[in-house]
Amino acid sequence: MAKFTLPQNSKIKKGKHIDAAKGAKNAKTFKVYRWDPDDGGNPRMDSYRINLDECGPMVLDAVIYIKDKIDATLTFRRSCREGICGSCAMNIDGTNTLACTKAIDDIKGDAKITPLPHMPVVKDLVPDLNHVYAQYTSIEPWLKADSPAPNRERLQSADDANLLNGEDGHGPAGCILCFCCSTSCPSYWWNGDRFLGPAILLQAYRWIADSRDEATGERLDALEDPFKLYRCHTIMNCTNTCPKGLNPAKAIAEIKKLMVARR
Ligand code: SF4
Ligand code: SF4
Ligand code: FES
Repeated sequence: MAKFTLPQNSKIKKGKHIDAAKGAKNAKTFKVYRWDPDDGGNPRMDSYRINLDECGPMVLDAVIYIKDKIDATLTFRRSCREGICGSCAMNIDGTNTLACTKAIDDIKGDAKITPLPHMPVVKDLVPDLNHVYAQYTSIEPWLKADSPAPNRERLQSADDANLLNGEDGHGPAGCILCFCCSTSCPSYWWNGDRFLGPAILLQAYRWIADSRDEATGERLDALEDPFKLYRCHTIMNCTNTCPKGLNPAKAIAEIKKLMVARR
């Protein structure tokens, strides 16, 4: 039976407030989700008021500032700081996005930061990505070709390359596997154990659309399943939230069209 209340140990409690910006003219409060698997306690929202004149312009700068200057226990992922690695994805101000490309100035009032939704949490802002990476492995994200390898790289035409890169640079090859899209998709929230979700389906399409790949039929066979593909109901949250401006919903629609065309 559906349960509409959170278990006691899942309820988010009020945490501590630290004002690290006394006297500052340009200050902002960041409310940050905290959960430590080792202390056995409930998750909580800690809030930190910081002096923005001492901090860089992006939300990731603020999170790094909090960790460096106020609370070294705050845990999050990040690497590139320029929207390339996908590791700083989190929910900021109600939207899944990259902390390193989200400007603090774009947030009115207090900034609320929580982990990507509907994923198990490892600690604080770090989601457990094991399941989604197992799904990524399942689509065999590498070039498959039986024809003999040429002496140089396998070439493709500019038009074929555009299918991957997109004429505007927003094609499926631009995906950085941040999973903002999958964790914004209601179908993935409810059926993430079997539905592959928009990020993985966009990756599947990236290989299906690759003119150098010779396993299109096999790849489509693997997706012909009531859950893996067809749990997408074109709600479009995925496309609306993608911080790289990609269109996973369109990629899913393209796979469905190919499924119909081969019947
Ligand atoms: S279009 Fe499909 S994959 Fe994207 S959010 Fe909607 S249901 Fe999910
Ligand atoms: S499609 Fe966009 S939101 Fe989804 S994983 Fe790729 S880059 Fe992230
Ligand atoms: S730190 Fe790499 S995408 Fe944000």
